[in-house]
Amino acid sequence: MHTQKKYRYPKSISVLGFLWNANSIRRNPIPFHQKYFKKLGDTFAVRVGIRRYILLTRDKDIAQHILQKGHKNYEKSKIQTTYLSKYLGNGLLTSKGDYWLRQRRLIQPAFHKQKIAQLLDSMLQTIAAEIKEMPLKQPLDIHTYMNRLAFKVVATSLFDVSISDSELLHLQAIIERVQDFLVKEVRLPHKNWWFKITGQVSKHLTLAQESRDIIQAIIEARKQSTKHHHDLLDMLLATRYEDTGEAMDMEQLIDEITILFVAGHETTANALSFALFLLAKHPEIQQRLYEEAKEITSKPLEPVQQIKEFVYTKAIIEESMRMYPPAWITDRECLEDDTIKDFHIRKGTFIGISFYELHRNPEYWKNPDQFNPERFLLKDQYPTNAYYPFGAGPRMCIGMGFAMYEMVLAVSQLILKYSFKTTQDEVQLNPLVTLKPTELLVTLTER
Ligand code: HEM
Repeated sequence: MHTQKKYRYPKSISVLGFLWNANSIRRNPIPFHQKYFKKLGDTFAVRVGIRRYILLTRDKDIAQHILQKGHKNYEKSKIQTTYLSKYLGNGLLTSKGDYWLRQRRLIQPAFHKQKIAQLLDSMLQTIAAEIKEMPLKQPLDIHTYMNRLAFKVVATSLFDVSISDSELLHLQAIIERVQDFLVKEVRLPHKNWWFKITGQVSKHLTLAQESRDIIQAIIEARKQSTKHHHDLLDMLLATRYEDTGEAMDMEQLIDEITILFVAGHETTANALSFALFLLAKHPEIQQRLYEEAKEITSKPLEPVQQIKEFVYTKAIIEESMRMYPPAWITDRECLEDDTIKDFHIRKGTFIGISFYELHRNPEYWKNPDQFNPERFLLKDQYPTNAYYPFGAGPRMCIGMGFAMYEMVLAVSQLILKYSFKTTQDEVQLNPLVTLKPTELLVTLTER
């Protein structure tokens, strides 16, 4: 432990040690995190100045303190706010303080369980159409297909978007290119001057503007339309601030819709891809899943009731997100000096919480590298406060209900139609804003 006058930090590595590893950290920081958690403990620090430290943790009590119990003293860092909003706008994910709270209060009702339940039919239709003609009997990079599926589900069920397939794919491609670039900017701050003079920054800002223009066109078309869609977009247009009675202006609408596209598709696509890969590796679990889906869909149940019964399917999704949490890391900065467990940290300290490592911390999880959905079947069997796929506290994911419905429907529809196999041994991770796989090759056979 490092004691500095009144401050006490966890064991640290120097910034030189960090820079020494800079290139491999840029490609994939997870092995670096793993190495130092093993060496220095569940929370370690990188010393970045005489009096400045960055902390990284996989400790459940610290995560809970920062996200829930002591959340008032923590806000999202510049990485998640200033840098992300430069390209993605100032929506729920990227705003903070009073502005964020006002937006969250305004938008939250649209994500109420009952509202999301009304979207189930449209979600199911989109999923069925997307999986109908997947290529068979050849290794497919399943992530490409799940990405498209998840983007389409957001577009059709939240925004009942009536733009062409090619425009939709274009929008998806832009959003993904912009995200990849901003990760580069964050991970290579010393190269930012180079990105500027080579025109890469302005190129990506233009792309971001292009996606805003497409979204604006969707909003304008909806405003002209006399039809009621009962989707999120109708709600966003109709909703009014409590204090002023006014609606969001066009810029705010574009910001929020962009963020919902960004936050809502890639995370779900990653979760589905990892789940399908894990199923392909575990035929016995796949068989049990198939039997559950067959039994439930043979009963004449309302869609919401049906989803409640998919208990084993949910356990599979939860276990996949434990091993491969799509939102694999988050960060906060403390607003005032704080004491957390044995540490006393200075105001302004940056703390990363690695959900990936928390979910595999051997202190809390038995055989953490083993895919075992059973642990989620009995509520008291797993440590709930060491499991945060959707975050926790006031900034917890607004789309959790939507995502769970979507994933249960997608996995059950897929398993009813196909069986999955893979010959790939290892998962190569590509941790950007979200935890993506580089490639997951799965072969589908029709049942
Ligand atoms: C498997 C799918 C998903 C995962 C794993 C996931 C995970 C997360 C996590 C961990 C956070 C909190 C980040 C933090 O505290 O720093 C978050 C926030 C958020 N998510 Fe999700 N998410 C998923 C799907 C969705 C969907 C489908 C939507 C919308 C359609 C969505 C919209 C958002 C928004 C707007 C926020 C910011 C909330 C706020 O700060 O008020 N997410 N998500």
